[in-house]
Amino acid sequence: MEFRSLLLVLLMILNIQSRQTEDLPVVRVTPDTSVFTGETVTMKCEIEDQNRSVNMSFQWSNRRTSVFNSERYTVNTNTLTIRGVTQHDQDEFWCVQGHQSSAAVHVTVMDLPRATVRVTPDTSVFTGETVTLKCEIEEQYRSLDWRYLWYKDRTEVLSSERYTVNTNTLTISKVTQSDQSQFWCVTEIHGRPQTSQRISAVHLTVIGSKPKAELTSDTEGYVLTGNTVTLTCLMNQFTGWKFYWYKHKQNTEKKTTEGIYYSIHNVTVSDGGQYWCRAGRGNPVYYTNYSDVLWINVADSAASSSSSHGLKVGVAVGLSVMFMIIFLVLLLCYKTRKGKVSESPSGVSPQQNISQTSDQKHNEDGYTPLQSGNAHVYDSVNAADNKNTSTDNVSGAADLTYADIELKPKKEVKKNKEKKNKEKKDVASGSNDVIYAQIK
Ligand SMILES: *[C@@H]1O[C@H](CO)[C@@H](O)[C@H](O)[C@H]1NC(C)=O
Ligand SMILES: *[C@@H]1O[C@H](CO)[C@@H](O)[C@H](O)[C@H]1NC(C)=O
Ligand SMILES: *[C@@H]1O[C@H](CO)[C@@H](O)[C@H](O)[C@H]1NC(C)=O
Ligand SMILES: *[C@@H]1O[C@H](CO)[C@@H](O)[C@H](O)[C@H]1NC(C)=O
Repeated sequence: MEFRSLLLVLLMILNIQSRQTEDLPVVRVTPDTSVFTGETVTMKCEIEDQNRSVNMSFQWSNRRTSVFNSERYTVNTNTLTIRGVTQHDQDEFWCVQGHQSSAAVHVTVMDLPRATVRVTPDTSVFTGETVTLKCEIEEQYRSLDWRYLWYKDRTEVLSSERYTVNTNTLTISKVTQSDQSQFWCVTEIHGRPQTSQRISAVHLTVIGSKPKAELTSDTEGYVLTGNTVTLTCLMNQFTGWKFYWYKHKQNTEKKTTEGIYYSIHNVTVSDGGQYWCRAGRGNPVYYTNYSDVLWINVADSAASSSSSHGLKVGVAVGLSVMFMIIFLVLLLCYKTRKGKVSESPSGVSPQQNISQTSDQKHNEDGYTPLQSGNAHVYDSVNAADNKNTSTDNVSGAADLTYADIELKPKKEVKKNKEKKNKEKKDVASGSNDVIYAQIK
């Protein structure tokens, strides 16, 4: 029995308390207790019997003062409306009816968030590229229910064949000249038109034709094994490129770099071959045309010293053979000429005779000895090369000059035999050079 009465008392107390809370007015705020500058905020004071509260009059207050109708404030029965809120309106509000006061609600006023448009890969694109425009709200406001509208000049962009609008992203695929225009992004919280912001996105520039990458190497000629060769893939127009490298092999190899350089360290013979590159950007990737093919020639550094020696030997042998042929020709000419001279009548001018005798001399004591002398001089020049380090280049040039000089008088001698006195002087000067070379 005692227990029962206790329960009854308890229930009565609970009932009274619940009735009291039921009767307390409550402030409901639309659209939110957090609003942006310029928005309209509405506060409704409600008691449990909503039908009754509609026509009830409430006293509104904030922390500073009682609220009455004013320029931006409208009090109407149970409703307080503030239009065009400013930071100044940020406060706590509550309503009072008789002795009953609602709990206070805190209304926060924020400036509109900053929005930006990010364009990938670039605001300047080539025909055929895919461009993505992304409208981004400051991070702390992203959780709000934003709505994004896209405009191309003054027209709203809707999804179509090449345009895809997906919330805050506008994707334009296979860009054409017709896409060259101004794009805008408009952000707005759903149902709150006063949060609308128009963000100047980009002026999209569209360039006509596909560009071509340019491939160069830091090394000309042969690369010795063990060295490093660095290839450069140039794509000067615009930015945001990645670079794709190809080597001709059984299966074409492909490597990707963020930068324009591709280095092959510790080069081996197998690194030799054809290389080419191209640039690409975006998603899906838009590729430039391939560069021209670049050959990397690799020489084995171990064999290279002997091979360069071999080269010299080869040149020497080649020169010797050449001289041999020239002398053979000369000999032939001389012999036929000699036959002619002996046949010819005595009407020959003395000068010609002299020249012929000089030629004769040249050829007679020249033929075999000159050949060996040739080799000799070449060798001695080589020796000088090794010992006399003072002017490598000059002595190197002397090698070449020597060959030239040797050829010159021979040719002239040949011509000489055929005609003209004038050239005799040249022969003389030529023979001077020969002497010079021999001295060296
Ligand atoms: C509120 O008052 C209006 C007239 O001012 C009346 O037409 C309406 O029925 C009342 N509503 C309630 C719920 O009392
Ligand atoms: C409030 O009024 C509506 C009609 O206007 C009625 O349907 C509803 O039942 C009423 N609610 C209460 C709690 O009296
Ligand atoms: C790239 O290739 C296309 C198609 O082969 C060609 O029309 C265009 O001229 C090329 N561009 C350059 C810069 O070579
Ligand atoms: C270069 O490659 C050769 C042969 O593969 C190897 O023996 C050598 O250690 C390498 N050198 C460097 C510096 O990596």
